[in-house]
Amino acid sequence: MKAAVHSRYGPPEVVRIAEVDKPEVRDHEVLVKVHVTTVNRTDCGFRAGKPFIVRFFSGLIRPKVTVFGSEFAGVVEAVARGVTSFEVGDKVFGFNEDRFGAHAEYLSIPEDGPLATMPANVTYEEAAPSTEGSHYALSLISKAKIQSGQRVLVNGGTGAIGSAAVQLLKSLGAVVTAVCDTEHVELVRGLGADRVIDCMAEDFTKDEQTYDVVFDAVGKSSFGRCKRLLKPGGIYLSSDLGPLSLNPILALITPLFGGKKVMFPIPPKRDQEIVRHFKDMMESGAFKPVIDRRYRLDQIVEAYRYVETGQKIGNVVISVDPAI
Ligand SMILES: NC(=O)c1ccc[n+]([C@@H]2O[C@H](COP(=O)([O-])OP(=O)(O)OC[C@H]3O[C@@H](n4cnc5c(N)ncnc54)[C@H](OP(=O)(O)O)[C@@H]3O)[C@@H](O)[C@H]2O)c1
Repeated sequence: MKAAVHSRYGPPEVVRIAEVDKPEVRDHEVLVKVHVTTVNRTDCGFRAGKPFIVRFFSGLIRPKVTVFGSEFAGVVEAVARGVTSFEVGDKVFGFNEDRFGAHAEYLSIPEDGPLATMPANVTYEEAAPSTEGSHYALSLISKAKIQSGQRVLVNGGTGAIGSAAVQLLKSLGAVVTAVCDTEHVELVRGLGADRVIDCMAEDFTKDEQTYDVVFDAVGKSSFGRCKRLLKPGGIYLSSDLGPLSLNPILALITPLFGGKKVMFPIPPKRDQEIVRHFKDMMESGAFKPVIDRRYRLDQIVEAYRYVETGQKIGNVVISVDPAI
């Protein structure tokens, strides 16, 4: 089968298209013919081997995994012995962040892994980018136990995580202020934000309002800078390690003092329940992933280069099967 492979850490150019064996399908696993995948920030981090800490999971010197790609949407091509929840021909989607392998024509995944059948009202292109950024957003929002009526500020409402966070927060009934640049104010308002701060015109950390939660979805701020925006007992969430990788440490220390605190869930929950959650949300129309650029699998190096600019709007999708 055709796959985007690499054998060392490095820039986008370490990735090339090659013919490789189809993945083995063990008992209780399904083989998925991938129609659409994505290139996301997690793929970029693991491909580059940065931050260095990822190498403790992915191989210290060389990557253990040679085909990246976590998100996928496609069709079940075969089921192994013991599979009861999926049948050949089922349209499925999900993310395989423990094993990767979605930048290929086929991937294998345990039937109880993070996948689900696709909602009838979405396309492969919409289903594929619906889980990676959004599961980080959901993990953080769940950790903070955000309730209806709470005021939440999302810094970076246009990223994969931020654009999902705005929609998830609105579905919970939160009052959302989102921060983005001038060009994307209308897009973010369209996601449901009650108020949008244009970061080109205003420094959001000087905002007069206070919030129950500040969610930095692009890792461009810090607890220190955002503290004054928080109500007493307010929570600072970040999807990024933060300056000097302090966020996980602050998440351990700040709750001890009983005031404003940092939350940083490690590792985020990634299971079938999460994929079903997004299936339900897409089915009801409460969530629709934002799609920016589209590439073919043989253009994946270009896709990586674009994602690494840090300026994609929502998600970048890769068509693996050009016929779809
Ligand atoms: N915890 C984890 O394991 C994990 C996993 C994935 C990602 N992350 C981190 O989470 C963050 C977000 O990930 P993502 O996938 O959502 O990123 P992304 O989609 O690449 O985010 C890009 C978006 O962020 C916006 N942006 C950049 N700087 C901004 C700023 N100063 N203010 C407001 N918006 C800004 C960009 O808009 P403009 O073009 O207008 O600047 C662009 O739309 C990254 O820091 C990433 O490293 C963490």
